[in-house]
Amino acid sequence: MKIAIIGTGYQGLVTGTCFAENGHRVVCMDRDADRIALLKRGIPPIHEPGLEELIIRNMEEERLSFTPDLGDAIRDSLMIFLCVGTPADEAGNTDLSGIFEVSRHIAEAMDGYRIIVNKCTCPPGTAEQLEEIFHTHTGHPVDVVVNPDFMKEGSAVDDFLRPDRVLIGCREIRVNEIMKEMYGPFLRTGKPLLVMSPRSAEMAKYATNVMLATRISVMNQLADVCEPCGADISEVREAVGADGRIGPTFLFPGIGFGGSGLPRDLAVCERLAAEHQVPHDLLSAVRAVNEGRRARFLRQILDYYGDSICEKKIALWGASFKARTDDIRGAPALFIIDGLCQAGAAVTVYDPVAAGKLADRYGDAITIAAKYYGALEGADGLVIVTEWNEFRRPDYARMGEVMREKVIFDGRNLYTPAIMEANGFRYFSIGRKPV
Ligand SMILES: NC(=O)c1ccc[n+]([C@@H]2O[C@H](COP(=O)([O-])OP(=O)(O)OC[C@H]3O[C@@H](n4cnc5c(N)ncnc54)[C@H](O)[C@@H]3O)[C@@H](O)[C@H]2O)c1
Repeated sequence: MKIAIIGTGYQGLVTGTCFAENGHRVVCMDRDADRIALLKRGIPPIHEPGLEELIIRNMEEERLSFTPDLGDAIRDSLMIFLCVGTPADEAGNTDLSGIFEVSRHIAEAMDGYRIIVNKCTCPPGTAEQLEEIFHTHTGHPVDVVVNPDFMKEGSAVDDFLRPDRVLIGCREIRVNEIMKEMYGPFLRTGKPLLVMSPRSAEMAKYATNVMLATRISVMNQLADVCEPCGADISEVREAVGADGRIGPTFLFPGIGFGGSGLPRDLAVCERLAAEHQVPHDLLSAVRAVNEGRRARFLRQILDYYGDSICEKKIALWGASFKARTDDIRGAPALFIIDGLCQAGAAVTVYDPVAAGKLADRYGDAITIAAKYYGALEGADGLVIVTEWNEFRRPDYARMGEVMREKVIFDGRNLYTPAIMEANGFRYFSIGRKPV
């Protein structure tokens, strides 16, 4: 079957490539001509483990192609997957203008029946608004299906090929059979395909992210309780996560979650609750705890150096909002970099893959190091922001040799305090006594 992907960003590119990997003929469309030009040369504009090999293989097999032309993409494609951005402002108002505009253009270009699969994260009721747009702008029949995506950047290919579940929000049995056929190969291990109302499917995406955000905020607040009590949150986390009712994932304390998903989905849920005049104090608390994390961490760094911060060189390890991605949208690192720069510190950052995106954002305002020990040369302190694997077991002696002052602020609890103390570092971490 030929399918069209509209919007070839993190989600669209992974979705299109994984469907091609299963034998479908996929055309990925994006209005960003530079992005399409790169992809036509087999170069992914994003960093996602395993993606490049799949893109190249499926291009060579002529199952995967890229175009800036909407008409080309949707011609003969029974299924059209919507994968454009749906950002929200801080008050949780979702900007649906992009998905509405692209739907209008698709409707105007359609030459027959189409199944419109909305993979974008959208508030409940959006599918009905999309149906309305299609009915207004084309005489051809359409079915709109809600099919939210749960992939995680950094393991998106694996998540797509082996999902925990697939969600389908649609009332048409015939369309649901086609969706089951599409996703069947990904569900061979017996993971469920859940069919529900479009509104429930739309809400389930937000609910999942709110639940994940809540776990992180609870652990972060527990970390603050552990520290004065003389307990170590890393040990406490292991005990909590070993409980079968709780499980070990999304329990890592740190400087708060970022990215383009969790903070937005929390804000949108708060907004929906407020609009419908139902309580949302728990959601607001989860958000407030999260926003407080990065501010608290920055304050700890600034307090340590006091007025001398403007003479200091501070190194950051990591900038992406989490490991294994180059995405810096909503990354805590940006808050830390901005705060340090405003205080007058000279900031040098090393990130294994996000250097390009950092350079686009900061230009000459910061130094971007090409090597991770290089970032430490002459540094008066190291701030660990992202939990990249290569930061986990560094050569402490070498670090100490190149740094001017042996101070580490670890926002990810990568090291053991006693080992850092033995190596002569001042070491500040999360929910554990500083040494
Ligand atoms: N990034 C993720 O890990 C992830 C996970 C689950 C769900 N989602 C959802 O997927 C959707 C897309 O997110 P993303 O992270 O891929 O965003 P993104 O910004 O990386 O990609 C969106 C792409 O759409 C393109 N685009 C925008 N308007 C267009 C138009 N009119 N015509 C053609 N192309 C257009 C942009 O140029 C961009 O390349 C969002 O609703 C998001 O919530 C994302």
